[in-house]
Amino acid sequence: MRSSAFAHPNIALVKYWGKSRDHPSHLNIPTNDSVSMTKESINTAESGIDLITHTTIDFSDQYDKDMGFLKSDDDLVPFTEIQMKRILKVVDALRKIAGSSLRFKMMSQNKFPTAAGLASSSSAFAALATCVSNALGLTLDNVELSKYARLGSGSASRSLHGGFVCWNKGDSHDTSYAEQICPCNEFNISAVIAVINRDEKAVSSDIGQETAHTSVFNPVKIREAQKQAVEIKKAIQNDDFTTVGQISEKSCLYMHSVMMTSDPPLFYWNPNTLKVIKAVVATRNQFLHTYKTIKKGIDQKEKDGIECYFTVDAGPNIHCLCRTEDLDEVQLMLQGIGIPEKNTVRVRQADYGSKVVDQHLF
Ligand code: PMV
Repeated sequence: MRSSAFAHPNIALVKYWGKSRDHPSHLNIPTNDSVSMTKESINTAESGIDLITHTTIDFSDQYDKDMGFLKSDDDLVPFTEIQMKRILKVVDALRKIAGSSLRFKMMSQNKFPTAAGLASSSSAFAALATCVSNALGLTLDNVELSKYARLGSGSASRSLHGGFVCWNKGDSHDTSYAEQICPCNEFNISAVIAVINRDEKAVSSDIGQETAHTSVFNPVKIREAQKQAVEIKKAIQNDDFTTVGQISEKSCLYMHSVMMTSDPPLFYWNPNTLKVIKAVVATRNQFLHTYKTIKKGIDQKEKDGIECYFTVDAGPNIHCLCRTEDLDEVQLMLQGIGIPEKNTVRVRQADYGSKVVDQHLF
């Protein structure tokens, strides 16, 4: 009973940060709804980053224990005990509904840096839920599977779907699930990721968010996120890039304010993160200034600057959000501040989140 899956990571536009303390912590019920775009990379050859996770799992009575390995191009490393615990949360829940006691061998490959703020856990647990369910002969749809991916990593629930996705916080295992807001390419937005650091972060997001409740700003962030989720869904459906960009930036800053004021404080940014953020704001201000002054009818090529916005997850890397036709210009802007093309990833919307595939890793 072997099955494999591909999954794409997602970038949160309205962020999740912190589990509800009114529910058992293993359920990963969040404090607020969150909204994301499932993403795939365009310039994989130049950046060496392909935003996809490939996972294979095999259940068989020939295994006497559960085994999991992280594969890279030249290495195969067993998952640590802590990583296996997270993997087992998903597998055990699905084994239970399948009524199976078979042990497994599992292998997973991220074609991009793991745990470096590029949302590897979102694609990893989405791929896992998909191939486990298929290998065990279950026929769960992606909304249902999002509940199981959530048990491994909250953000993974959103990576079950392509395009734009909302994770409804809910108040139980059954009501906390992710659903698609609209498929890819119905809303014009892309991104360039400025990859500041490919190293594994010091504090993983699942550990970091355990202290979110200690920040005095947390209740405000939760309240605002609920409103932002409603507004951004409308803006996505109305193809309103400006509103989506503005909300995304605010949500990012609210989340990092909570991180920085938690006990102990968490600083995921580094000086280069701020340098990119300032460049994004400056080039947008230039755009807004010239846009206001050019008269109607003047060729849009006359415009200066770019309408772009930033968002940053739990790491130093920045997503510069822009309209698809502005990708080249955003990349040039980043080159202008010393971020070479090999350290940028051009990102477009992915048409699927997670799917079963025929290619197996073993
Ligand atoms: O799902 P986790 O535990 O990796 O947390 C992800 C949190 C952020 O990426 C920072 C925000 C989000 O909503 O994806």
